[in-house]
Amino acid sequence: MANVAVVGAQWGDEGKGKIVDWLSERAEVVVRFQGGHNAGHTLVIDGVTYKCRALPSGVVRKGKLSIIGNGVVLDPWALMEELRELEALGVKLTPESLQIAENTPLILPVHSNLDQAREKALGNAKIGTTGRGIGPAYEDKVGRRAIRAGDLAEPALLPEKVDKLLLHHNALLRGFGQPEVKRDDVVKQLLDIAPKITPYVGVVWRTLDQARKAGKRILYEGAQGMLLDIDHGTYPYVTSSNTVAGQAAAGSGQGPGAINYVLGISKAYTTRVGSGPFPTELHDDIGKGIGERGREFGTVTGRPRRCGWFDAVLVRQSAKVNGLHGIALTKMDVLDGLDELKVCVGYTLDGESLDYFPASADKQARVVPIYETMEGWKDSTRGARSWADLPATAVKYVRRIEELIETPVALLSTSPERMDTILVHDPFAD
Ligand code: IMP
Repeated sequence: MANVAVVGAQWGDEGKGKIVDWLSERAEVVVRFQGGHNAGHTLVIDGVTYKCRALPSGVVRKGKLSIIGNGVVLDPWALMEELRELEALGVKLTPESLQIAENTPLILPVHSNLDQAREKALGNAKIGTTGRGIGPAYEDKVGRRAIRAGDLAEPALLPEKVDKLLLHHNALLRGFGQPEVKRDDVVKQLLDIAPKITPYVGVVWRTLDQARKAGKRILYEGAQGMLLDIDHGTYPYVTSSNTVAGQAAAGSGQGPGAINYVLGISKAYTTRVGSGPFPTELHDDIGKGIGERGREFGTVTGRPRRCGWFDAVLVRQSAKVNGLHGIALTKMDVLDGLDELKVCVGYTLDGESLDYFPASADKQARVVPIYETMEGWKDSTRGARSWADLPATAVKYVRRIEELIETPVALLSTSPERMDTILVHDPFAD
């Protein structure tokens, strides 16, 4: 039985939502294993647009079990808001269809406040975070002072846990010249939200083990992308979790053998939100055109995304670090009508050539892309559902990308509609 992990192969926003939705129809369980409501997965189903943030994209499909694993950081108030939004669109989740790991750390108002205060203090050097408190919540997890989802079921123990948390946070707040937070206020907030969250809290590692034993298909849904990974990304301009496929196991309580197929998602070009190096970024009308045609605005923050050419060096590195078995190439149609296309096939740095993206932020900012120029296509690829529907030069572009990233294309997405997909290899078939 194949279990599939889907991960972003670039800087996030690769169009994972559509692909995950496409795959989740074939899965029985869909699991989030890292990140939080900094993620924004947009799904268009029968003309209705759904926006998932903390919840796995599988929630919009009936009869699936959706899971928030321990690798996620969860804002309970934002989750309630998301559940309300979905309910307004006719999707009602119950403890039978949604389970939250008892060891999932919570994002509290202190975290989002600190995230925003710190970004402000950094000025031009800011990371460009989503301001959702993701980083501070992960810091508290690793600092061993987090309040976790399961703690909400033990109200008598909360004051002591909150004291431990605030010992740290109030010291920081004093440093930033901000008013301190009172323990009783935080405890009250937690006690108020507890009855709404606790019914969903469960033993996720065991649920997943049982699902595996029962032969159910499990889909592990990554958020962000490899270049935002805390270890492997463009540090320090990254998110605070491991976004790579290896985290699917640790972030849900399964062994590494739980995943049989890793599917990376990549756009046919490159985008990035927030600060940080981006070697193939375009500052001209071509970049602007890609942004407009691709509607490149952040789902969560609405910020315009930076756009550039496809960087095969980055995606190849991503393929290796994630152990990708195949790639889903998205938004091909955004490139329709361009006379020529460029693909980055290597870099130069201080006169030397480089075939990988170095870890040093200074070097990342200074590498100069080496481009290969390819002929564009005039015909539309939008809505294509088979290779035969694609112009020959578009097929050539895809084949060259496969060669450069040393990974086969398993799926090609040609519009936001789920059926506008060319299936080359079914990830669940392995
Ligand atoms: P944080 O995750 O809010 O701490 O933000 C850290 C960096 O990750 C910033 O550059 C964000 O723009 C970026 N980021 C976080 N989540 C996403 C996402 O879902 N898509 C794209 N970029 C993201």
